[in-house]
Amino acid sequence: MAMWRTAKHAIRSLASTVPDVSPFVRQLHASPGSKKIVGVFYKANEHAAMNPNFLGCAEGSLGIREWLESQGHQYIVTDDKEGPNCELDKHIPDLHVLISTPFHPAYVTAERIKKAKNLQLLLTAGIGSDHIDLKAAAEAGLTVAEVTGSNVVSVAEDELMRILILVRNFLPGYHQVVKGEWNVAAIAYRAYDLEGKTVGTVGAGRIGKLLLQRLKPFNCNLLYHDRLKMEPELEKETGAKFEEDLDAMLPKCDIVVINMPLTEKTRGMFDKDRIAKMKKGVLIVNNARGAIMDTQAVADACSSGHIAGYGGDVWYPQPAPKDHPWRYMPNHAMTPHISGTTIDAQLRYAAGVKDMLDKYFKGEDFPPQNYIVKEGKLASQYL
Ligand SMILES: NC(=O)c1ccc[n+]([C@@H]2O[C@H](COP(=O)([O-])OP(=O)(O)OC[C@H]3O[C@@H](n4cnc5c(N)ncnc54)[C@H](O)[C@@H]3O)[C@@H](O)[C@H]2O)c1
Repeated sequence: MAMWRTAKHAIRSLASTVPDVSPFVRQLHASPGSKKIVGVFYKANEHAAMNPNFLGCAEGSLGIREWLESQGHQYIVTDDKEGPNCELDKHIPDLHVLISTPFHPAYVTAERIKKAKNLQLLLTAGIGSDHIDLKAAAEAGLTVAEVTGSNVVSVAEDELMRILILVRNFLPGYHQVVKGEWNVAAIAYRAYDLEGKTVGTVGAGRIGKLLLQRLKPFNCNLLYHDRLKMEPELEKETGAKFEEDLDAMLPKCDIVVINMPLTEKTRGMFDKDRIAKMKKGVLIVNNARGAIMDTQAVADACSSGHIAGYGGDVWYPQPAPKDHPWRYMPNHAMTPHISGTTIDAQLRYAAGVKDMLDKYFKGEDFPPQNYIVKEGKLASQYL
């Protein structure tokens, strides 16, 4: 067994919240010597050379290749993450660090973790590490960390855009123009102002708060549901009202925005019954995670008109298969997973990953808010 797979004693002193945590954990920080680091990113092909700051793609490789190799580390980058003979699986048995992004997620299952005998560190270039089996990672003593805050502005801006796109019934108008048509009535009968509408965010953490701040000048009625009440100053600044009971908030909302992580508690939270509690004609924006919704329930409610519009960039699985029902449901404003991978966001999460790798090599701690799994324990919102 590799030497960094032991350290029995270290974990015992931690009050772990993961049931039956294995006492066999891997060291938190790098042991000396060359490391094998694998990055899984989407491929950019002809787009790769179009912008020198395009760091988030496989070709850009977060801009850390030279830095890693100059220190004697091996850096393998691939977009091939699935299927029996995929490139990622070839490296699982001997990699030390796996970097992945939510945009092109490498699904790190318990089975992969079991095979990854040298693995110590799983880094998410971005926010949201639900593509990793976090319990299995905790039980194996792995560290999971993400670049908290790196793309929150990017996502909040995108949500505001999708809200407006849905409220104004923008996309059918755009498609008319492209197809050479002109039919004002077909758009106008279901286009509204945002002013005066009730918008509720489910989750008011970093992104939710930024969205509320951005919505304030639109003179909406703002509501939020979260497991935690926000600071009174921010409530005052945004005018957003706390709703402790999600099911009491939903029927009040014209627009619902999802802004919480995918956890065991939030998976499938918006099923047929919960959607039925929402206003007929509700608009939903979800840039959080696709699996928070029941896929078929959303498609059915869009078809029946109970949901008047659904927009977002997150799907399950990703890439979304060709037959994913959300591609074909009416009144959607869906794109591939793009909101958190603007060039500005890429620069921030690339810098954040480099900083964490540097700290890992030096045996230093990461910024505390970056840890999702540390010393056998999951971050509180994942419990
Ligand atoms: N589409 C993208 O590109 C993209 C980019 C960044 C983040 N995200 C997603 O957005 C999520 C939120 O990001 P953030 O930076 O705002 O995270 P955050 O941790 O700052 O905020 C999450 C909020 O959700 C709340 N929450 C957690 N579980 C809850 C529950 N069961 N019920 C009610 N509230 C709950 C938390 O208390 C917290 O306030 C991420 O976890 C990720 O899944 C998507």
